[in-house]
Amino acid sequence: MDYKTLFDLTGKTAMVIGAGSGIGEATAMGLSDFGAEVICADLNHDAAIATLEKLSGDGSALQLNITEKARVQEVFSELEALDVLICTPAVNVRKPMLDYTEEEFDKVVNLNFKGNFFAMQAAGKIMSKQKGGSIIMYSSIRSQVVEPGQSIYAATKAASLQMVKTLAAELGPDNVRVNAIAPGVVETPLTQQIKDQPDWYNAYSNKNALGRWAQPSELVGAAVFLSSQAASYVTGTLIPVDAGWLAIDGRFTPPV
Ligand SMILES: NC(=O)c1ccc[n+]([C@@H]2O[C@H](COP(=O)([O-])OP(=O)(O)OC[C@H]3O[C@@H](n4cnc5c(N)ncnc54)[C@H](O)[C@@H]3O)[C@@H](O)[C@H]2O)c1
Repeated sequence: MDYKTLFDLTGKTAMVIGAGSGIGEATAMGLSDFGAEVICADLNHDAAIATLEKLSGDGSALQLNITEKARVQEVFSELEALDVLICTPAVNVRKPMLDYTEEEFDKVVNLNFKGNFFAMQAAGKIMSKQKGGSIIMYSSIRSQVVEPGQSIYAATKAASLQMVKTLAAELGPDNVRVNAIAPGVVETPLTQQIKDQPDWYNAYSNKNALGRWAQPSELVGAAVFLSSQAASYVTGTLIPVDAGWLAIDGRFTPPV
């Protein structure tokens, strides 16, 4: 065994859905640096193309709305092979549960739960046939812990994790691994609402052990690991990249 090649993705084809922004953009660039051919997919075609132009290796870009089942099936049916799926898209409507409208509920559930399900299912079908692959979904610390205002988003992130565990159980015999990453707080457009309010932003910095937010680049290592041979015995699990958010209470440092 040559351990130096454990993380090498040369010859692998990876699709990154949500490649146009934030964690998906950084991850597409990271997978490319490790040798993968990266298909940059996003609702925003221009953003997917912009990420493609930043890749160090080969790739392509396409427009994809994961809430449109027929379009998801069409895109995946055109693939010759798929070794890695990274699927990031999600939305959050932060407000008290008692004020949530049905439209807001549907918007969050439709993308975070149903759309992500369509992508997992389509990738799983290809990978189970080819007897190998790695599916990486984005759950959240909110799959485990909540605060006021996180209700439906948190529920969908727990749902995402349970889908990951189930698909891992179903596709393990076909050598397909399925895992989730739980980011802590990462500076991306998704969290701009929080960054715009210093009290809220600083409270999140103080909650975790490192005392700061993450940059999207700090989420790349976990995705490269799960994509690679280094994670050949890792499936059905949640990898927090959260600066200890889930480990510590963080409310108060006693005078000891
Ligand atoms: N940023 C954080 O602090 C944080 C924390 C915990 C979990 N997460 C999770 O990480 C993932 C990535 O978050 P991010 O901050 O990079 O988000 P982001 O908003 O920066 O990027 C999401 C991307 O998905 C694309 N997209 C939206 N709807 C789509 C659709 N229907 N089909 C295809 N593409 C679509 C957007 O155009 C965008 O490029 C999400 O699942 C999020 O819940 C993020």
